[in-house]
Amino acid sequence: MNRRAMVAGNWKMNGARDFNTSLVHDILFDARGFTDIDIVICPPAPYLDSVGRQLEGSSLQLGAQNLCEQEKQGAFTGEIDGSMLRDVGCAYSIVGHSERRALYGETDVRVMEKFRTGQVHGLTPILCIGETLDERESGQTEAVLARQLGAVLDACGIAAFKQAVIAYEPVWAIGTGRTATPDQAQQTHAFIRAQLAAADAKIAGSTRILYGGSVKADNAEALFKCPDVDGGLIGGAALKAGEFVAICAAAQARNK
Ligand code: 13P
Repeated sequence: MNRRAMVAGNWKMNGARDFNTSLVHDILFDARGFTDIDIVICPPAPYLDSVGRQLEGSSLQLGAQNLCEQEKQGAFTGEIDGSMLRDVGCAYSIVGHSERRALYGETDVRVMEKFRTGQVHGLTPILCIGETLDERESGQTEAVLARQLGAVLDACGIAAFKQAVIAYEPVWAIGTGRTATPDQAQQTHAFIRAQLAAADAKIAGSTRILYGGSVKADNAEALFKCPDVDGGLIGGAALKAGEFVAICAAAQARNK
């Protein structure tokens, strides 16, 4: 396995200046030895600039949680475009998080547009896909994932995945404390990779697929040991330095 592990912290709508400064300070200090993995911090948009400055000179990278699908700046009140994200130092942007799909009506097409626009601006998209509990229980998991992934694959092409990360986030595992078992995660990640491999086996083999949904210090190691799980997209546990760094340590151990 030659895929470099990644741990990304999605802070969601949490943070304040003092809180951020001390959280990032602690993460930087405790994670300084983790040179074999990519660590990405995704704070809320108002704090990207200041967190980005704090990360300067470290190996940690900055990511946004969302971006506007429009390629050019202009009259789109409230939106943030990819060039602004690059300007403040973002290397990544999450796209298609299930909270954005469910609460803000982002369709598969809109998510695809954000993915494409992010790449136009030099951002690496972290494309989130995942099924709801109803969908899993009614046997639709694979159909849902194939549809969400297919919307991007069909429009952007498999080559776009050379510069992208996928995050499998089962909706029923997000913020619920109910995580997918390593077997469930492995099975689903293998399915996602097979979807990519049908288009290009080499690109499929090098695309990182993260798991997200109630990843904590005590379950990260078992999840990251799965051959097709290349790290994690972390919500709640990314807001606690000790937890987040322990998850990074599990990813670092996987790379050895
Ligand atoms: P939790 O880790 O809080 O379950 O959130 C996962 C997630 O949605 C990360 O994007």
